[in-house]
Amino acid sequence: MVKFKTIKSNSNLMKCLVVFYSRTGNTKKVAEKIAEILNCDIEEIVDIKNRSGIIGFLRSGYEAARRKLTIIAKTKYNPSDYDVVIIGTPVWAGNISVPIRTYIIMNRNKFNKLAFFCTMKMRSSPMIFKEMRELCQKDPISALIIRTSEINSGTYIKKVEEFISKIKA
Ligand SMILES: Cc1cc2nc3c(=O)[nH]c(=O)nc-3n(C[C@H](O)[C@H](O)[C@H](O)COP(=O)(O)O)c2cc1C
Repeated sequence: MVKFKTIKSNSNLMKCLVVFYSRTGNTKKVAEKIAEILNCDIEEIVDIKNRSGIIGFLRSGYEAARRKLTIIAKTKYNPSDYDVVIIGTPVWAGNISVPIRTYIIMNRNKFNKLAFFCTMKMRSSPMIFKEMRELCQKDPISALIIRTSEINSGTYIKKVEEFISKIKA
């Protein structure tokens, strides 16, 4: 009798995890859309530090520019259990947000394939993917920048779909 092996080559069988931090909800909105389309697990990074208000805003920008780390709450999922980990961060002072920098540094040996996305206000191109790549020592299979104007207008959904089709390809 011929035995058939199940080969995990189909993108539908690809196990994905979306990991994000969001201070004011933009990155969360994009992360939830990605997880909804992929029907995958999602992990919100929780910063122990209070980042609300103007003091929180100023402190966050200062810390991000100086590449500081923070203390994040214990995470639920192990990234090494996933074929692809999709990491999302807001851009802070042109940099990776402090909680996502912390998460990457704590987990960088556990990633298989990676994809990155960020949300930001301005039209400039941030250098954060280059730094995320260096921190992870891995090239992402897909990367996406979403502006806050695209979130407000709803046009981000089309970009998210293109981003996901690259991940699946
Ligand atoms: C401390 C701080 C610094 C920021 N710096 C930038 C920046 O350098 N460039 C930019 O385009 N947007 C910047 N923003 C705007 C955020 O990147 C943008 O609003 C993002 O979508 C916020 O995501 P969130 O709602 O998930 O926290 C900054 C926001 C904060 C709080």
